[in-house]
Amino acid sequence: MLSYHAKFSSFGSHAPKKILNNFDLEKIVDTTDEWIRTRTGMFERHIASESEAASDLAFQAATNCIESSNVKYKDIDQIIVATISGDHPFPSTACILQKKLGLKNIPAFDVSAGCTGFVYAIDIARQYVENGIAQNILVVGVEILTKITNWKDRNTCVLFGDGAGATIVSRAEASDISRIIDTKIDADGSQGEFLIQQAGGSRMPASHESVDKNLHTVFMEGNRIFKNAIKSMFASSDELLRRNNLSVSDVDWIIPHQANLRIIEGLAEKMKVSMSKVIVNIEKYGNTSSATIPLAADEAIRNKKIRRGDIILLTSFGAGLTWGSILARY
Ligand code: ACO
Repeated sequence: MLSYHAKFSSFGSHAPKKILNNFDLEKIVDTTDEWIRTRTGMFERHIASESEAASDLAFQAATNCIESSNVKYKDIDQIIVATISGDHPFPSTACILQKKLGLKNIPAFDVSAGCTGFVYAIDIARQYVENGIAQNILVVGVEILTKITNWKDRNTCVLFGDGAGATIVSRAEASDISRIIDTKIDADGSQGEFLIQQAGGSRMPASHESVDKNLHTVFMEGNRIFKNAIKSMFASSDELLRRNNLSVSDVDWIIPHQANLRIIEGLAEKMKVSMSKVIVNIEKYGNTSSATIPLAADEAIRNKKIRRGDIILLTSFGAGLTWGSILARY
C-alpha cells in the first residue's frame, strides 16, 4: 500500500456579525459579567442571525481557507464537516456545503463528536491522505449551538457562541517540512448523559411535550464534564508526545478546545507549560464547540504567532464523551 504524509495546507474561519456580551446576558438570565469572566474567561460571543445556518458559516470559512491556500477548488477530493448543529438531521451539512462550493462527485460526510469533532475529522482525513486515496480534504468545524440553547438556563446559555473554522489536509511533498505527525482519538460512551441534546432523535422524537420541556436544547452537567476535561486532554496529549519521542518543550504552540479558561489553565499547569505558549481566544468567541480549534488556529496564523515549521499540539474534549489530540508541524 502507498504511504504518504499529510499536512495542513491552510486555515480559514468565519464568525457571524452579531455579538452578545456578558452585560447583554445579564439582561436575559440571572447572571453577572463577573461570574462569567471569573468562572469561564468569556466576555463576548458571536451569534448567528435567524436566517443563518451551519452551512452558511461553513461556506464562508471554507472559502477563506481555500482562497488562502495553493489548492484549487477542483483539486479538493473530499469534504468532512464536524458538527452537532448542522442545517438538518439529514442530509449532511457536508453535502450542503459541497453544493454551495460547486464541487461535484466527491465524498462528503459529517462527523458527530461534540467539541472533539474537528479532531476526529482530522484523524479521519489524515488516513485518506496517508494511504493515497485523497490528496486534498476540506475539513470544517462548524457550530450554531445558540439555536439549540435553552436561554432560560444560566448554567449553559452563557457558554456558547457560533462560528466555523476550516482547514485543508493535503498530501505533503517529500520536500515539505509541514506534516501531521500523529493523532489520537478516544471516547467513553458511559458518560454520555452528562452532555446531551435529549430530544429530536429516534429515542425521543419531537413532540409538543419535548418542545415545552426544552429537551431539544443542550443539557450539560458542567462540573462533571470539567473534572474529565483536563484529565483526558492531558492523557491523549501526553501519549502523543511520548510515542513520538517529543517532550512538551519541543512544542511551540498548544491550541486547546476553548470551553473554559480554567480548564485551559489547568491543562497548561498539568502539562507544565507556560500560558504564553497556549492559544486562547475564548474571551471573544465563547465555546464554539467543534469550531474552536480551527478558529483559534486561523487567528493565530493570521496574527503571525504560528509560523510554518512550528510544532503545534491541538487537543479537545466534548460530548460523547469524546476527546483527542493532534500533533503536527505546521
Ligand atoms: N451565572 C451565575 N451563577 C451561575 C451561572 C451563571 N451563568 N451558572 C451557574 N451558576 C451557579 C450555579 O447555580 C451554582 O450555584 P450554587 O452553588 O448556589 O448551586 C454555582 O454557580 C456553581 O455552579 P457550577 O456548575 O458548580 O460551576 P462551575 O464552576 O463548575 O462552572 C461551568 C460551570 C462553567 C459550566 C464549568 O463546569 C465548565 O466549564 N464545565 C466544562 C464544560 C465543557 O468542557 N464542556 C465540554 C464541551 S461542550 C460540547 O461538547 C458541546
